[in-house]
Amino acid sequence: MKTAEMQGTAKALVAFGRGILAADESLPTIGARFAECGIESTGESRRAYREMLFRTPHIAESISGVILFDETIRQHADDGMAMIDVLRRQGIIPGIKVDRGTEPLAFLPGETITEGLDGLRERLEEYRELGARFTKWRAVLKIGHQLPTMPCIAANANLLASFAALSQEAGLVPIVEPEVLRDGDHTLSRCEEVTSQVLRTVFQALGDHRVELEAVILKPNMITPGTRCMDRISTEQIAEATLRCLRGSVPSEVPGIVFLSGGQTEVEATERLNAINLRGTAPWELSFSFGRALQESALRTWNGLVANVAEAQAAFADRARLNAFARNGLYDSEMEKNQHSLVCN
Ligand code: 13P
Repeated sequence: MKTAEMQGTAKALVAFGRGILAADESLPTIGARFAECGIESTGESRRAYREMLFRTPHIAESISGVILFDETIRQHADDGMAMIDVLRRQGIIPGIKVDRGTEPLAFLPGETITEGLDGLRERLEEYRELGARFTKWRAVLKIGHQLPTMPCIAANANLLASFAALSQEAGLVPIVEPEVLRDGDHTLSRCEEVTSQVLRTVFQALGDHRVELEAVILKPNMITPGTRCMDRISTEQIAEATLRCLRGSVPSEVPGIVFLSGGQTEVEATERLNAINLRGTAPWELSFSFGRALQESALRTWNGLVANVAEAQAAFADRARLNAFARNGLYDSEMEKNQHSLVCN
């Protein structure tokens, strides 16, 4: 019963023409994003910002699910409605980030482990009770001189698998996110090599933990060169490397792959998602679960002011719609003209 429900949820999250909004920034992360715009980060400003996003008219046409942060799932909108009900009323599936961030690994300098397994079974039960239907856990891998190490990859893969198994036990679809960071001067092929190794290790661990792959969503990075790499790489090369990596590492039972944006610009992330979807058939749906690449223009337009809500919602709706086109391979850069998403205060 739970398995059928989870498979249905997973399919709905990656349905044609829709994708996921990651609005689960932790307190330090949202604080940093707000600070860039001169907005003070308080419980109330975070709530108002996220309510603005969630109440965007007709947003469910492009957005299938939203990943919430623990604070938000307990908050209420201005009119007293639970934030999670604002989403459900829109026809959007609510999800929840359940990891508790990263900590340095002892004796492995520069590498981290993700925390949050303690008490997770009880927290998952509560989240399901509150209305969440899917979960997310992010592991972080850094490319560098002799990095990532095998112990770091293995430890993070095992934690992702434990998280995924516990989520499915609670009837929640796990989004498994092993993010290989873009920071560094590494080449495209080094990113492909590391990401392939990480993904293979993650799927080995998921199998070992008896996780149902038909009820898992993978959230990987696209294959890109490091942010300080000087190579000139085309959108097509990124799409080709990304698909080659996924074809070699992700079992076909997985219903969908949703990319993180990882600090790419809004337009870069959309163009690359489109190019990936244009490159012929794949066994999985290929969609998005962007944080920054869906919110950047909307946040700048909102700027903490009630007077800007309608304009910020228009910017968010535009970006979501363009990514929905890209997720179907139907985006064209001409569509960027006359978008509210180019408005910046
Ligand atoms: P970005 O798209 O900004 O990378 O965020 C996605 C996310 O959920 C990171 O955990």
